[in-house]
Amino acid sequence: MTPNSERFLSDLHQLRTFGAAGVGKGVIRPAYSDADIAARAWLADRMRAAGLTVQQDPVGNLFGLAEGRSLLLGSHSDSQPEGGWLDGALGVIAALEIARTCRENGRPAVSVVSFQDEEGRFGVTTGSAVWSGQIDLSLADTLTDHDGVTFAEARAPLAAGAGDFVDPAQFTGFVEMHIEQGPALDVADEQIGVVTDIVGIRDMRLTFDGRQNHAGTTPMQLRRDAFQAVSAFNTAINGRFQHVVSPRTVWTIGHVALHPNASSIVPGRATFSMQWRDGDADRLARMEAIIRTTAQEVADTGGLGLSFGPLLGLEPVAMDAALRTALEAAAERVAPGRWRAMPSGALHDATNVARLLPVAMLFVPSIKGISHAFDEDTDEDDLVAGLSVLARAVTDLDQD
Ligand code: GLV
Ligand code: MN
Ligand code: MN
Ligand code: MN
Repeated sequence: MTPNSERFLSDLHQLRTFGAAGVGKGVIRPAYSDADIAARAWLADRMRAAGLTVQQDPVGNLFGLAEGRSLLLGSHSDSQPEGGWLDGALGVIAALEIARTCRENGRPAVSVVSFQDEEGRFGVTTGSAVWSGQIDLSLADTLTDHDGVTFAEARAPLAAGAGDFVDPAQFTGFVEMHIEQGPALDVADEQIGVVTDIVGIRDMRLTFDGRQNHAGTTPMQLRRDAFQAVSAFNTAINGRFQHVVSPRTVWTIGHVALHPNASSIVPGRATFSMQWRDGDADRLARMEAIIRTTAQEVADTGGLGLSFGPLLGLEPVAMDAALRTALEAAAERVAPGRWRAMPSGALHDATNVARLLPVAMLFVPSIKGISHAFDEDTDEDDLVAGLSVLARAVTDLDQD
């Protein structure tokens, strides 16, 4: 079975036009934005043209279903607020091309999915988290984005015309192709990564409540400055984490909202995101304890209020051994000596789907390791190598 690499690349570039950012190949296609919804309508047409039955569920996960039992391939087609053209899109379009090729060849049965809100506008991989039962829909509906829009509000226009949740029992497994989003393959000039396991993540919003006041007249010692509290918290946890972390541990304050966010006003409130990731769930728990204690100490010292949002998270997961073996054998045939087994530091829908099905993932290189940025890119020959590995693995699994 030989997938059509020109058709694959053409569709990949076509998907990029939805939300094209005008900066390099970047895209702005966050979950439920007009660009995301238009991209999903286009994808649904492509799925139908490939002979698949389209079903969009109440949260916007878009499936193209083969008849009977099938292997599920896919990823997500929403983007970060500033994203690259391949993060998620690659896995969806590769899945489409493999499903199309399989139908042209008469077998095996392959279905396609594009999950919704993988990039966490509302939570952490929200669409696949709801589909897999990782979080209840009623809880997901209460989650808000940084502008206070709820998940329920965002999905309401789609939910009206949606079908049911797709029954996972029809699938034999799930394979997600993705860009690496880090530098390991590019630095080593390798073409394929076969994922061993995906890290765990915790994500929480914190709010310091101080006293809004005049920036010219309020003496420094009388201030209850919410931004100063964020700054002190950041410095303190960086020091305290050193006793707990491993070289693979990462943590990020990626979003800060100051109120009212003006040069001449001592900020009265600061809400910020705190996210941390590691392969060891115990370490994630120890970090959570440090975060809570440190934030409370900073608040007490500065006379500020403190509140914590819900703690969201996903546990570390290992990939299925049999699917992994099939990907490794295919990688060795397509790119002899130029592939490796490796962990994923990025999060993926595969983590949630692992609750329901055997899952595996393969990576292709990210040039200079850049992702979640407009200049994310991958050499065309590496994109095609990844497609070939996926095609071979799907064929081999069918013969087992
Ligand atoms: C998903 O894109 C992540 O943040 O790892
Ligand atoms: Mn992704
Ligand atoms: Mn991403
Ligand atoms: Mn290369």
